[in-house]
Amino acid sequence: MFKKLEPLIEGIVSEVEFSATEKMQEICTLLQKEINYYNWVGFYFKNGDKLELKLGPYAGAPTDHTIIPFGKGICGQVAESNENFVVPDVQAQDNYIACSISVKSEIVVPLFKNGENIGQIDIDSDTPDPFNEDDERFLEFVNQKVAEIL
Ligand code: SME
Repeated sequence: MFKKLEPLIEGIVSEVEFSATEKMQEICTLLQKEINYYNWVGFYFKNGDKLELKLGPYAGAPTDHTIIPFGKGICGQVAESNENFVVPDVQAQDNYIACSISVKSEIVVPLFKNGENIGQIDIDSDTPDPFNEDDERFLEFVNQKVAEIL
């Protein structure tokens, strides 16, 4: 499945007539549609000079969490750790920001531009413990491709 999606991601980033925001939106929509356990897919980016994340393009239910301070929730922790964070069971996390009661698990992968952690891709799943290393490698690939257009 991921191998089939990779060329589609490459196709989206190399489209000439769309902005980076539109391309990221298209990627979110594609992943949410094609991967059945990706129920919410979104990008967060560092908000200027502030130590907070701001919601970018996403696909799925609207969230109240459009701003997340560094250190808060799974996303805020990844902003500081620079490492992938796989959460098999969100209920087992103390430092977690709930977006929807249907969410069971989450994965957040940082997005690096010139070695700097400038944002992340965040996936929420209604399925318990669905993520493995293939998801991590795939989302790292997605973020590398997105970094090329930022
Ligand atoms: N659950 C995230 C907040 C973002 S929503 O999932 C869209 C967190 O704990 O950081």
